[in-house]
Amino acid sequence: MLVHIKDIVGQTEKKHYAVGAFNIHNLETVLGVARAAVRAKSPAIIQVSEGAIEYMGLKVIINIVSIVAKDLAASVPIALHLDHGKSFESVFECIKAGFSSVHIDASGLPLTENIMLTKKVVEIAHEKGVWVQGEVGAIIGGHGKLGGKISDIPIAKADDVVQFVKETKVDTIAAAIGTAHGVYKNEDINIPLLVEIKSRTKKPFVLHGGSGVAQKKIKAAIKAGVNIINIGSDIKIAFSKTLIDDCLRNRTETDPRLLLKPTIRAVEEVVVKSMKLFNSEGQMVIDRIET
Ligand code: G3H
Ligand code: ZN
Repeated sequence: MLVHIKDIVGQTEKKHYAVGAFNIHNLETVLGVARAAVRAKSPAIIQVSEGAIEYMGLKVIINIVSIVAKDLAASVPIALHLDHGKSFESVFECIKAGFSSVHIDASGLPLTENIMLTKKVVEIAHEKGVWVQGEVGAIIGGHGKLGGKISDIPIAKADDVVQFVKETKVDTIAAAIGTAHGVYKNEDINIPLLVEIKSRTKKPFVLHGGSGVAQKKIKAAIKAGVNIINIGSDIKIAFSKTLIDDCLRNRTETDPRLLLKPTIRAVEEVVVKSMKLFNSEGQMVIDRIET
């Protein structure tokens, strides 16, 4: 069932689990996430990047996600979110189109400019009841990247994050606390910084770069109050590896359905694994949401 993101995130605060925000790219990845949510009886956030919107089209995404959430995943709450919206225009399009949450990522700009742009988005979004995620301290790396070690992972300053939240009035906050986009051996989570940000902002915290982070670090972050964990690369890798293996094994197959079917299952498996780790398995909150 498609719900507002606030109906999902509000519950995580009280019950000490995190909800996964999973990046989708096509019908197969949407189906994989939805089937995982139903199987794990877990809430889920389906998120799209500007690249995914360019690939699929905004209307197509909204229609696919809405119908899948309504029919296939009627028993679990699913929210639609824009991930790393870089410009006012692209965020505005998603607000108009009916997303319940958007991420304005102006973290590459100086703090004052980041605050200015984010504030502008918050004003428009809140008029329409849409939640806004802001970001402080750019998260480096690349979605889908598999590397050894990544150097110079930036760490945000707690004072900057607190000032940003206070001035912009964002609904959720993302900040660089040691993770990177992609899968790297030296990703870390600065727990004391996370605890300080949570206690001083009192806002739901979004952990970006969830793929490749050691399980015990993820568990510690959830204990410290992380509410949303973004998973992108794990999905890309599961989908692509499965498709490539499948195509190599069945070089003469011409039916796209046969070639693509295993990718749905592969995405489902990776998402169920995340839901178990995040402790969102069994936390179906549909009966507590007013429709
Ligand atoms: O915005 C998306 C994420 O932060 C994904 O990061 O590719 O490391 O899972 P990841
Ligand atoms: Zn991210």
